[in-house]
Amino acid sequence: MSSAEPEHPVDSANPAFRARPADAAQAADQASGETLSTLQDAPVEQPLPVDTSVFDEQTVRLAREIVPRYPGSRSALLPMLHLVQSVQGHISQAGIVFCAQQLGLTTAQVSAVVTFYSMYKRKPSGEHLVSVCTNALCAALGGDEIYARLGERLGSAEAPLGQEETAGEPGTPGSVTLEHVECLAACDLAPVVQVNYEYFDKQTVESAIELVDALRRGERPVPTRGAPLTSWRDTEMQLAGFFGEPEVLQAAVDAPSTSEETMVGARLAERRGWQAPPMPDDSPLPPVPDKK
Ligand code: FES
Repeated sequence: MSSAEPEHPVDSANPAFRARPADAAQAADQASGETLSTLQDAPVEQPLPVDTSVFDEQTVRLAREIVPRYPGSRSALLPMLHLVQSVQGHISQAGIVFCAQQLGLTTAQVSAVVTFYSMYKRKPSGEHLVSVCTNALCAALGGDEIYARLGERLGSAEAPLGQEETAGEPGTPGSVTLEHVECLAACDLAPVVQVNYEYFDKQTVESAIELVDALRRGERPVPTRGAPLTSWRDTEMQLAGFFGEPEVLQAAVDAPSTSEETMVGARLAERRGWQAPPMPDDSPLPPVPDKK
């Protein structure tokens, strides 16, 4: 964080608010712009034709709670974007402007982060987000087939659901967004599917279809590991750092978090007394080659 940036959230309602120095030429170009691409470049102190009133007082309060958790205010952007998704089910232009205002960033800076991470959705998501791992190991063990068949199940054989498309009206009960993702760090339990980032291990086409059918009926199947299922928006609230009632947090903490397969290597090493060699205190670093 540069020393010129504010440490604390900025009151966007305050007419004295100034986020970052505006480039005058850029501002003039953008004052009349209404498209997404031009708004992305607008400095936040310019009046923007974007209504952020969807973010009520409670959301503003939560956003401001996030900021002091980090040494630099801009570090609060990732959880704040999750907070925005918990409200809207995606990152809208209003969400980008909201974060920029709260953190004293430009909308271009916020957009750059939003478009970099696939966890930030650019269109409204369903009540549940189903992520199918199609990275090498899962794909070879059936992940590709699971993704293809779920697309057909949630759409139709003629028009299967595509990446980040939703069956049902986004946000309504039983709506499901489908995506394929790369390695979910559970290769020993491949092929893996997540619902709202909770694991359903060792899936088959049949078990995955059963899973999405249950979600479409409004049920909440129990994950193989991890916290009890909630909606994707509630998960987003948790990723923003807010767990609601203490029982919710306790249930997540108490839920199983490991698997027999994952522990096999550790147990074998323990039985045989194997240990990783200790890290030497003074490991010499290799020389840095001269730049030509
Ligand atoms: S390849 Fe699917 S979890 Fe690693």
